[in-house]
Amino acid sequence: MKAVVLYKTCSPLELTVSEIPIPEVRPGWVLIRVKAFGLNRSELMMREYEGNAPYITLPRVLGIECAGEIADPSDSAFHPRQRVVALMGGMGRSFDGSYAEYTLVPSKNVFSVKTEMDWEELGAIPETYFTAWGSVMDCLQLSPDDTLLVRGGTSAAGLAAIQLAKSIGATVLASTRKRTKYDQLVQQGADHVLIDDGTLKDQLLNRYPQGITKILELIGPATLLESASLIRHHGIVCVTGILGKKGTLDHFYPIKDIPPGVYLTGFSSNYPAQHIMDEIFNHIKKHHLHPSIAKVFALSAIGQAHQLMEDNASNGKVVINLNL
Ligand SMILES: NC(=O)c1ccc[n+]([C@@H]2O[C@H](COP(=O)([O-])OP(=O)(O)OC[C@H]3O[C@@H](n4cnc5c(N)ncnc54)[C@H](OP(=O)(O)O)[C@@H]3O)[C@@H](O)[C@H]2O)c1
Repeated sequence: MKAVVLYKTCSPLELTVSEIPIPEVRPGWVLIRVKAFGLNRSELMMREYEGNAPYITLPRVLGIECAGEIADPSDSAFHPRQRVVALMGGMGRSFDGSYAEYTLVPSKNVFSVKTEMDWEELGAIPETYFTAWGSVMDCLQLSPDDTLLVRGGTSAAGLAAIQLAKSIGATVLASTRKRTKYDQLVQQGADHVLIDDGTLKDQLLNRYPQGITKILELIGPATLLESASLIRHHGIVCVTGILGKKGTLDHFYPIKDIPPGVYLTGFSSNYPAQHIMDEIFNHIKKHHLHPSIAKVFALSAIGQAHQLMEDNASNGKVVINLNL
């Protein structure tokens, strides 16, 4: 089968397609014929530098998520040709992932989906919507009364979060560093766009002098403390992203750094479950949502796809369609 194997850390255009054997099915794992998959920042990090980490073994087929059909259900309750999505559990990191025609995944990380969506749309959903859903609906406990800022609003996760928040009737603010992306955020449903150019705090407080109730922090620790200062009493900030390329806080002093009565939480997509996937797909169907797809590539163009994402030029989910 064709697969994108990471032999050593490399630049985007050094990624190529190899011929490798189809994985052999074993108990507890199911074989999926991959139809489409979305790209993720964690795959960019693996390719660029994390592939050298002591806990990663190369060569490795990249890819932490996919949409496809069951090719061999092994000892699971799935049936051949059933539509599924798969994500996480070590996919593309501790075992070979989805950048391939077939992928072998632990059955607990495979989820049935009942949807008429085409493969490209379905490929854009699993990791991004699971992350946006978990952050907004669970961690932030968003309600229609809330005013939410999605910090890093033009990211794929950010665009999904804006959609979900608007679909339940919340007021949504979204940030970008680039004025040229203003219209995209409004089209996605943002009520107000803030430009993250060092004056975001002033922009927000001019409109909401008392602060707002919820912030989804996708830039991460680089802007977290400022975000916490913009939250009202009993509001919540959820850290889900690290777009600011800073994963930790230096000299974190919780008593001083978290304003009294402000709650800090974080989301990790490590624990997907069938009932949550069902909720997400039901919600998507009920509210007629469509993922914001930046561009679709063939597997052979994986290098260009990684380059587009690395250049921050994607504005939505980058998807690979295995049928192209
Ligand atoms: N916690 C989890 O389980 C989980 C799961 C999935 C993703 N994530 C994280 O969520 C974040 C979003 O992922 P994604 O795949 O949706 O991203 P993405 O689509 O690749 O995001 C691209 C956008 O991020 C913004 N950006 C890039 N570098 C930035 C920087 N240094 N400072 C500020 N903004 C920057 C740019 O927006 P502008 O140019 O418009 O400013 C860019 O257009 C990532 O950090 C990812 O690792 C976390």
